[in-house]
Amino acid sequence: MRILGIETSFDDTGVAIYDSQFGILINELCSQTHIHNEHGGVLPELASREHLNTLASLIQYTLNKVKISLNDIDGIAYTAGPGLSGTLLIGATLSFSLSFSCNIPIIPIHHMEGHLLTPMIENNYLSFPFIGLLISGKHTQLIYAYQLGKYKILGATLDDAIGETFDKIAKVLGLGYPGGLALSNFARQGISKTFLFPKPMKYHNDLNFSFSGLKTFTINLINKNINNIQLLYNIAKEFENTIISMLLHKCKIIFEQTGLSKLIVSGGVSTNQRIIKKLNYMMNKYHGKIFISRLDFCTDNAAMIAYVGSIYVKIKSFNIPNIFIQPRWLISH
Ligand code: KG4
Ligand code: ZN
Repeated sequence: MRILGIETSFDDTGVAIYDSQFGILINELCSQTHIHNEHGGVLPELASREHLNTLASLIQYTLNKVKISLNDIDGIAYTAGPGLSGTLLIGATLSFSLSFSCNIPIIPIHHMEGHLLTPMIENNYLSFPFIGLLISGKHTQLIYAYQLGKYKILGATLDDAIGETFDKIAKVLGLGYPGGLALSNFARQGISKTFLFPKPMKYHNDLNFSFSGLKTFTINLINKNINNIQLLYNIAKEFENTIISMLLHKCKIIFEQTGLSKLIVSGGVSTNQRIIKKLNYMMNKYHGKIFISRLDFCTDNAAMIAYVGSIYVKIKSFNIPNIFIQPRWLISH
């Protein structure tokens, strides 16, 4: 069985094919970063136009590259939400057109469920239940994944997302957009504990996060020390340390309370090696294991959409009469 996956929830156009025997056959991505970079953030209208310019030819290119025709596709899985309504509509409309004209089943997929289950693509023995930590440019969520489709959000950010916070600090430091990786590299040259940072929500025992106070504190500190590069490195380092200790604190509460032993970390921020190293260390203490995806599956991609589509198409038939998107789709039921 082969599933064509289509991802257009935000600023990346993704097309991939999952084969139930051979795994991901191809995973293509057209990033719009260079277009949005000069605006310091994603402009929804521009993002929609770019998807419109790119998607049809990217589908054609992807199929041609692996010499597969639409006749060999058993399902079209597309991201139906959450995301920007304009960009979601481009993917949904083209998916429906292909499904309708070629009589291929269509499967709407939750973008965050895609992120959550991605590590399963390469870990056949990974099974439910587990805790998911979704850390991306738009989301920060701790999820109890009981079984397929049954998820409970244990905690989430009350304001900015973790990746968004990295991006905003990086922007003030002139490190470009999105600046999470650049900021983390910048912080490598810093010395820890030269500044005392607040740890918002750390002393609350609920599982929510808040990053906006930390963001404002960091930006003010940067502005006060803007002419001293070493102090800027130190600030970046302590910012990253603070983020890590916030994540560890919430994860510890969960693993102490639930006794679970599996942590899946997903989303663009999971490419941060310092975060993963510390979480790994923590999971060792709980005799547990951490699961992450390979790098190109961590950030937005269509492989995760095709993969989750391949799971659902086996157990459920979708009968969706109209083009369907849900920009504010919640993962929990
Ligand atoms: O999952 P993703 O590609 O898009 C969303 O669904 O949001 O995540 C992108 C986010 C951006 O905010 C980016 O700055 C952040 O992931 N990011 C990082 C790192 N690499 C990417 N943040 C911190 N450290 C990194 N190494
Ligand atoms: Zn994402």
